[in-house]
Amino acid sequence: MPSPARPLPACASFYHLPNTHITGRACRGLACFAARADAPQRWQQACGSATSLYCLGQCHQGPAQAGDHASPVIRTHCRQPVLLTTLSGKPDDSLACYQQRGGGAALRMLLPLPASAAIGQLETAGLRGRGGAGFPAARKWAAVAAAGGVQKYVVANADEGDPGSFSDKVLLEQNPFQLIEAMIIAGITLGATQGYIYLRCEYPAAAGVLQQAIRQAYAAGWLGAAVLGSSHHFELQLVIGHGSYLCGEETAMLNAIEGQRPEVRLRPPQISEHGLFGQPTLVNNVETLCAVPWIVEHGGAAYAAMGTANSKGTKLLSLNSLFNRPGLYEVEFGITIRQIVDELGGGLRRGQLKGVMIGGPLAGIMPPALLDTPLDYEALHAIGCAVGHGGVIAFADDSPIAAIVAEVFRFGAGESCGKCTPCHLGSPELARSFEAVLAGAKMPRQRWHELIAALADGSLCGHGRGLAEFALAIERHYPQELATCFV
Ligand SMILES: Cc1cc2nc3c(=O)[nH]c(=O)nc-3n(C[C@H](O)[C@H](O)[C@H](O)COP(=O)(O)O)c2cc1C
Ligand code: SF4
Repeated sequence: MPSPARPLPACASFYHLPNTHITGRACRGLACFAARADAPQRWQQACGSATSLYCLGQCHQGPAQAGDHASPVIRTHCRQPVLLTTLSGKPDDSLACYQQRGGGAALRMLLPLPASAAIGQLETAGLRGRGGAGFPAARKWAAVAAAGGVQKYVVANADEGDPGSFSDKVLLEQNPFQLIEAMIIAGITLGATQGYIYLRCEYPAAAGVLQQAIRQAYAAGWLGAAVLGSSHHFELQLVIGHGSYLCGEETAMLNAIEGQRPEVRLRPPQISEHGLFGQPTLVNNVETLCAVPWIVEHGGAAYAAMGTANSKGTKLLSLNSLFNRPGLYEVEFGITIRQIVDELGGGLRRGQLKGVMIGGPLAGIMPPALLDTPLDYEALHAIGCAVGHGGVIAFADDSPIAAIVAEVFRFGAGESCGKCTPCHLGSPELARSFEAVLAGAKMPRQRWHELIAALADGSLCGHGRGLAEFALAIERHYPQELATCFV
């Protein structure tokens, strides 16, 4: 039986939360920043902590504090819900209930079929990774399936680090067997006998649900040496993080699982050939994996019938507490951001809309004039924004651009792994400069350009490059307000 223990890592100093309890601590995530005027004292507590806590996944009730956990309102707005179909509506770790709700059908369908059957359905579905980059899932699965090696691994990325997103959290707490079923399907398809779920420690309720669910899956014969009595073997282990946004980056995460310092690895080699413990590894986000059972059961074509030409299917969106109707929504790609803001979210409950950050802090903020842009990977990229992990943070007009820039770079600086100079030293300099702007100083425009260009060109991973993209989008969409910060 696997142990979900949380031993102190050898490189504990890398982490923000190596062994601390988070109960009672206030969240410093960007959704809580956007809502700081609603509970200024709580926000001050978050800012006053020696180590920042990003993010509790309670963005629907920000500014949030660990412990005052309440499930978000959950709604579907699509022709065929894919991700929220077998949701229990409450913390649920009963395999029997999951099966009563239709869970397990995809795994049973696949067991007698050739191992490659699922990859064909994923290809037809056009499923793209929901962890941020939107990489086609079928291509990743096919690469790991084709790789040699004595041992292969399947890893679920449950780090959900993007401040503003709480979709994985809901999937894990309310439907853990959907993920477990998907990981077994991946293991059988790729010839991988060992899986890991890397979960952030900021989600203690999800950890408890997953531990219990994994135990039940072993007892019911879903996991172990003979999956549902077949010749397939699949083991699953929960690994709990210690507070680090960067551990969501897949190579850093693999180092963390191995117990190494979680720095980003150089590529090539790709992890499909040389991943966890040097073996072929599939890493997928929780939401990506949770779509797999539905796609296998209903067929890739049914999934591809929803969405746009290149962004197929459905996406979970986490709407923050500034909306009149915050919560978790499953929508079809192609819906406009205006519909999301006005029809789903019901508009802002106070102030004027300043902008919407969708893909987390490593992407741009969309100004109100561009709200007719559809939710679509390419359409958002074209305006310097991103689908990212689907956190939808509305900023009201009480958030000056200088304050947003300072907050994003403070986050970026605190979460840098320190390997690249522009990210390690440039991010804190930008944070300090914009804090000074808020206090009445000005920043040399030339220095801003130098630092952003260095971040864009000299960063090894998407953390530094994403911070540059955020800055460039601010330049593009808020030029006048940004100009007031410069000399
Ligand atoms: C700084 C950084 C943080 C990331 N954090 C996450 C995360 O919390 N969850 C996640 O699924 N992907 C995260 N990613 C993306 C992963 O590296 C990886 O692309 C993803 O887990 C692959 O799964 P997918 O193909 O299903 O999206 C992050 C990437 C970067 C650069
Ligand atoms: S860009 Fe930043 S987080 Fe990424 S490898 Fe370089 S220093 Fe580390």
